[in-house]
Amino acid sequence: MKISLRTKLVISFLAVIIICGLIATLVAMRLIGKGIINQAQDKVKHDLNSAREIYREEIENIRDIVRFTALRFFIKDVISADDTDRLLIELNEIRKMESLDILTLTDENGRIIVSTRNPIVIEGERIDDELVSYVLSSGQVCAGTDIVSREELLKEDAELAGRAYIKFIPTPKAKANPETEQTSGMMIKAAAPVLGYDGRLLGVLYGGNLLNRNYKIVDKVKHTVYQGVRYKGKDIGTATIFQGDLRISTNVKKENGSRAIGTRVSQEVYEQVLVKGLPWVDRAFVVNNWYISAYEPIKDIRGRIIGILYVGILEEKFTDMQERAIAVFLGIMFAGMAMALIVSSFLARGLLHPIRDLVSASHEWARGNLDYRTKITGSSEIAELAETFNFMASSLKERDEKLKEYASQQIMKSERLATLGQLAAGVAHEINNPLGAVLMYTHLALEDMKGKEKDVRIKNLEKVVMEASRCRDIVRGLLDFARQSEPTMKESDINGILERTLGIVENQALFHNVHINKIFSPSLPKVLVDVGQMQQVFTNIVLNSAEAMEGTGELKITTRITDDNEHIEIEFIDTGCGIQPENCEKIFDPFFTTKEVGHGTGLGLAVSYGIITRHKGTIEVKSEPSKGTTFIIRLPIYRKESLNVQPN
Ligand SMILES: Nc1ncnc2c1ncn2[C@@H]1O[C@H](COP(=O)(O)OP(=O)(O)OP(=O)(O)O)[C@@H](O)[C@H]1O
Ligand SMILES: [Mg+2]
Repeated sequence: MKISLRTKLVISFLAVIIICGLIATLVAMRLIGKGIINQAQDKVKHDLNSAREIYREEIENIRDIVRFTALRFFIKDVISADDTDRLLIELNEIRKMESLDILTLTDENGRIIVSTRNPIVIEGERIDDELVSYVLSSGQVCAGTDIVSREELLKEDAELAGRAYIKFIPTPKAKANPETEQTSGMMIKAAAPVLGYDGRLLGVLYGGNLLNRNYKIVDKVKHTVYQGVRYKGKDIGTATIFQGDLRISTNVKKENGSRAIGTRVSQEVYEQVLVKGLPWVDRAFVVNNWYISAYEPIKDIRGRIIGILYVGILEEKFTDMQERAIAVFLGIMFAGMAMALIVSSFLARGLLHPIRDLVSASHEWARGNLDYRTKITGSSEIAELAETFNFMASSLKERDEKLKEYASQQIMKSERLATLGQLAAGVAHEINNPLGAVLMYTHLALEDMKGKEKDVRIKNLEKVVMEASRCRDIVRGLLDFARQSEPTMKESDINGILERTLGIVENQALFHNVHINKIFSPSLPKVLVDVGQMQQVFTNIVLNSAEAMEGTGELKITTRITDDNEHIEIEFIDTGCGIQPENCEKIFDPFFTTKEVGHGTGLGLAVSYGIITRHKGTIEVKSEPSKGTTFIIRLPIYRKESLNVQPN
């Protein structure tokens, strides 16, 4: 499947955006979530402090009521006068006015004088109360929370004991407890000494409020701290007082809207708060909603943990806040992604347009339309590339033209040589037989004239033989040049053929003052050649060089592999007279010679050219007049797997 560059670019952009977006979303979700929850937890801790203050205020309030009542003169007077009926009326009045559950007076030994809740006092009955004992022993006012047993409650009033009684409602997370009900109650109590005019302790006044099913404190917390705010029909803030792990006063509601009295705290909170005495702040499932909750222990006057104070904020509000924040964040992210997509698609388009132009231009060039030029717009790297492409097209066109010219020259040259070859072959053939006859008859005539050395005709006949022999040499050369038969190929080492050729010619007088410098490549691969013909070519070239140097100079012969690794190259450089530029074209033509008449046939190079061409090689000349000449022969390297050349 071919995917366009534009799609790839857009996909890459998108991939980066999506990955970054996802990471950002995850991180943001965590941070937002954590931030909001942390904030909620801080708030709930703060709210718990406020609830504690309200709870303490209530203790203070009861303490003040009891303290101030104990200070009233009528109590001293009535105790001294032993007027219990009046005491009962007065104290009961105060109890009702101050909305206390109990208000009781004892004598200096702790025996009940008046119990406002229960007017029938059994003679000599004592109050089993820690606060009273404390006041009796210390003479100081004291107040605090305390657990009151059913018996003690019954001493006051059966109604009080009934209010304290709570049946457990089973909850799955609560600590296992074999009991099913609670009969005792939890009270905020205060006790104060009643002193006579002389400062003597006359008795103890004590009063208090039962917390079981008393919603004064928890509702005050709800209204003061949370202003009774509701969220989705539910109270946003809730408060609870636990006696032990049992909810005795709460504004957490059950499904039916009634207060969730009788349910118990989870095992986890139980361990942390009731056992270890430490505060606990976390999310908690309370009755039927999740709350961000804070719990702390309630202690009695001796510091024993007897209950828990709890506040909780409805978690839903915070999770909704969290969801809204995340939704806004996601919205922004998606908008960013959409924008990035649009921008990247525009960018890709702007970038790819010139590339497409370049592609169509290269198609045109490939089709051979080298006059086509691509548009160059702007000054970007792509514009630079387009400029380079256009320049390349002009260079290609130029080179194309040069090649065409060169090729047509080569064709003309080979056609000319072929015509000349045919002509030469025809002439040579015609001349060869009569020439043979001339030589044969002349030899016969010379045979006949043996012993007549003084005869002047002998000299003439010898001249005939000499000239005819020269003619025969020319004819042979012509026939060599025109020979159409394929060479007899053999896998050979060119260095060896060169050595043998030089070995023969070096002995000639012409070479005595010629320094031959051989630079033969030792790793020259084998070539497929007709050894005799190749020797003939090399002989022609080195002879020409020696003749051009007039027997004195340097001939450098180099063999090597061409850069393309396809050919071997044999280079002959001499320091001879060189060739005039106008003659360079002609030296391979048959009969072209600059030598005096009778000294050269002008066939040497023509024959060599024919041989090299039949070997599928090339021969090339470079020359500078009066400096020297270079001949370069290239022959294809023989490879066994090559199908083009078959050894004979
Ligand atoms: N190395 C060279 N330096 C200068 N000129 C050269 C060289 N080789 C060839 N030529 C020129 O090329 C001409 C043609 O050479 P070619 O070998 O075909 O014939 P030739 O040497 O003149 O005659 P022949 O080879 O029959 O003796 C030479 O006459 C000479 O002018
Ligand atoms: Mg020659």
